[in-house]
Amino acid sequence: MSGRWPPPCLLYPQLRRSRMVLVLAYLGVVLGITLAVDRSNFKTCEESSFCKRQRSLRPGLSPYRALLDSVQLGPDALTVQLIHEVTKVVLVLELQGLQKNMTRIRIDELQPLRPRYRVPDVLVADPPTAPLSVSGRDDNSMELTAAEGPYKIILTARPFRLDLLEGRSLLLSVNARGLLEFEHQRLRRVPFSDKVSLTLGSMWDKIKNIFSRQGATDPAEGNGAQPEDAAGDGDKAKTQDTAEREEPGAWEEMFKTHSDSKPYGPTSVGLDFSLPGMEHVYGIPEHADSLRLKVTEGGEPYRLYNLDVFQYELDNPMALYGSVPVLLAHSPHRDLGIFWLNAAETWVDISSNTAGKTLFGKMLDYLQGSGETPQTDVRWMSESGIIDVFLLLGPSAFDVFRQYASLTGTQALPPLFSLGYHQSRWNYRDEADVLEVDQGFDDHSLPCDVIWLDIEHADGKRYFTWDPSRFPQPRRMLERLASKRRKLVAIVDPHIKVDSGYRVHEELRNQGLYVKTRDGSDYEGWCWPGSASYPDFTNPTMRAWWADMFSFDNYEGSAPNLYVWNDMNEPSVFNGPEVTMLKDAQHYGGWEHRDIHNIYGFYVHMATADGLIQRSGGIERPFVLSRAFFAGSQRFGAVWTGDNTAGWDHLKISIPMCLSLGLVGLSFCGADVGGFFKNPDPELLVRWYQMGAYQPFFRAHAHLDTGRREPWLLPAQHQDIIREALGHRYSLLPYWYTLFYQAHRDGSPVMRPLWVQYPQDVTTFSIDDQFLLGDALLVHPVSDAGAHGVQVYLPGPGEVWYDIQSYQKHQGPQTLYLPVTLSSIPVFQRGGTIVPRWMRVRRSSDCMKDDPITLFVALSPQGMAQGELFLDDGHTFNYQTRQEFLLRRFSFSSNTLVSSCADPRGHFETPVWIERVVIIGVGKPATVVLQTQGSPESRLSFQHDPETSVLVLRKPGVSVASDWSIHLQ
Ligand SMILES: *[C@@H]1O[C@H](CO)[C@@H](O)[C@H](O)[C@H]1NC(C)=O
Repeated sequence: MSGRWPPPCLLYPQLRRSRMVLVLAYLGVVLGITLAVDRSNFKTCEESSFCKRQRSLRPGLSPYRALLDSVQLGPDALTVQLIHEVTKVVLVLELQGLQKNMTRIRIDELQPLRPRYRVPDVLVADPPTAPLSVSGRDDNSMELTAAEGPYKIILTARPFRLDLLEGRSLLLSVNARGLLEFEHQRLRRVPFSDKVSLTLGSMWDKIKNIFSRQGATDPAEGNGAQPEDAAGDGDKAKTQDTAEREEPGAWEEMFKTHSDSKPYGPTSVGLDFSLPGMEHVYGIPEHADSLRLKVTEGGEPYRLYNLDVFQYELDNPMALYGSVPVLLAHSPHRDLGIFWLNAAETWVDISSNTAGKTLFGKMLDYLQGSGETPQTDVRWMSESGIIDVFLLLGPSAFDVFRQYASLTGTQALPPLFSLGYHQSRWNYRDEADVLEVDQGFDDHSLPCDVIWLDIEHADGKRYFTWDPSRFPQPRRMLERLASKRRKLVAIVDPHIKVDSGYRVHEELRNQGLYVKTRDGSDYEGWCWPGSASYPDFTNPTMRAWWADMFSFDNYEGSAPNLYVWNDMNEPSVFNGPEVTMLKDAQHYGGWEHRDIHNIYGFYVHMATADGLIQRSGGIERPFVLSRAFFAGSQRFGAVWTGDNTAGWDHLKISIPMCLSLGLVGLSFCGADVGGFFKNPDPELLVRWYQMGAYQPFFRAHAHLDTGRREPWLLPAQHQDIIREALGHRYSLLPYWYTLFYQAHRDGSPVMRPLWVQYPQDVTTFSIDDQFLLGDALLVHPVSDAGAHGVQVYLPGPGEVWYDIQSYQKHQGPQTLYLPVTLSSIPVFQRGGTIVPRWMRVRRSSDCMKDDPITLFVALSPQGMAQGELFLDDGHTFNYQTRQEFLLRRFSFSSNTLVSSCADPRGHFETPVWIERVVIIGVGKPATVVLQTQGSPESRLSFQHDPETSVLVLRKPGVSVASDWSIHLQ
């Protein structure tokens, strides 16, 4: 180490507590170029033939009838056949009562020509069942009772529907609108006139299809037995055929210049769910739209299809990079969830019987007693696969979070460093640039944990390599960063340059591990390196190979402080349909890309996280950021909202986008600070840092064509405000870390919509401009240019909220106008909570992890408060494998603050102690006495400010691991 490097854990200047009044700098309008997505690159529902077919089916009587005579009641499931009254095609419904108030419904063909895709690897285990029993029966229906929970299910035979009841109240109905539509697999009917127009390719498909059914090789071989008689019954097939609509696009589909050969014909599935009493629905990310979902009737449905959308637009239901097919329904009385486990292209329609009614109209209905019960209807439509849906019956939002977490797992516990600040851009040019940026943070007393490298760091976009002229000695660079206790993240994308001199390509090609085209050759598309092939991550052998690439031997130039970023994993294919892969590309097990599309990125993320775990022999926790995601991706790391733009509207939308992800398990979410495209003016950049400091994943990132924007390049006044925002982030790290532990433990979101915490407060149901962190902090970022004030909604009743800077107390519920300057954003601590902080801001989180803790105790009107603190080494799995952690509970009541153990399994040696306690909302005591186990009582010195009612207790000096109490007398 040269003398240029200061000692590793330099103390940065203390957080400034004064409010600097600054004159707002209006630096003019951002460059007047309007950038926008080219919408015609992406399909509308009309242009997606299955969506159009599904949607053309109108609500009405369902043609399906349940054959009650076919009911079989096993220990784990009830099965019953559903017959389509016109086509006579038979489906099988499998109904399972699950433990924890959940029900699972699966519908598949009784005799499929070819097995249908069932999404593997998303569920953490087979969910434990709670057997159903028949508790009533008549000619047309059957009543089922689950062994657990107060639920009943009524199965109606004709028309087929399911109703879930709790006591006498109807929670949810399935197929009440008759929109069950299941395109069973069939032989292609070829009218003579069409025959001539058949392309050679589709003729070949047809022949191949026929042979495959005669016992020749089938693409789905190994995935289940082929039904033998399905194709044999020619007459039956003919009657069915005539009854079926052979619409354009059913057997072949064009989009722009791309053709989709659809060798298996139409296979889509759709089903509707009615939610009586529900007016508010959320979830089904990722969309750049409001938190509360909108009614889609008459417009486009919400689309779930992982896509690389260049310069995405806001406030619309277009698909984006990731998909989580989970919807939450909320009313003041109840929360429910619907998890539609399908990885194919999916569209979701939402309708409501109250939509369009004015508040006045609703009131009139209410007064006249003539109003219908509000009801929301949700309709899911997927291109292939089976219907596999979990009904999460709550009753509270937190129950739904736990239920969903029990199915798909919880947020991985991030290494502590990854909760710090990340500095990225496309690109830091070379090693010297990286080290200068690193030094810049020290020179300007700004904390930073990680510097990022985008695609230019690799040799010709050959991932796992380094550009030999710009990054000749990556290990030395990593060591320099390590000496500052900082990390590096390098990008590793899943498109592999087709280049015979590139080892990764050679091995994957030779081992046949690439995705294949319909004709069995390696699929090639165009991406950053030029011609590229795509590893088939659905293949476990491929994932194991990939994970092994991260070993320190295989990934040359890597080191333990190198972490990874998976971009472009939708997958992005520049010359593919909708910038992605052909749907008829072939994957492991004979599945089509159509079947697995939305889960591809999930598997890339999974394999990369596994690689980082394996390289340390299973000791170290990974950090992997992914752009694409699916249900369950929370188990592998962080996600971000992709390529946003430096505009105020994009700053605003980061709130509902991350809140929506948090609701469906992905707590570790962030948006590129500053905006990826275009140049933010200093005011916007400052506001973005202030927002990002309070969002879970905190990374500045920028496009290649943007100007450099490291914080010290801004005018001094702006730099100071950014330093302050970073200071707030770092001081709250103990709280962030504890929140992530709680998310990891029980699936509760870190960043929460207000309604989750205040389920009966109607005002909170559509708030998009503020949020909660855990249950203690309420953040209202400033997201308007030139703002002089904001309207903050403080929920209640019975709550008090303390401004964390001035300690001013506000009663809830109220809408408060708060003047703001550029230097701060409104943040409140709820009375009744205890928030731990580190008050010394240093170079990085690793430098702070042994620092003493200050407890901020904000009292409720009843004079009570509580909070938790989780501590471990911050980077290994020892908290899990060796129970090396501490979970402490702090509670204040009857003028006594008590520290106790909240999880007796944990033990952890730590130098961390409590250096100060700040009690907010308390009168002045005469004496303050500390009691610790095995020591005599001691008096603590204190200071009380009568104006703010803040009591500061100095140096209790107790270890964070010990039990103690402090009495105010
Ligand atoms: C199941 O639901 C009942 C009634 O709604 C509720 O009391 C119970 O806590 C729930 N159980 C679980 C595990 O969510």
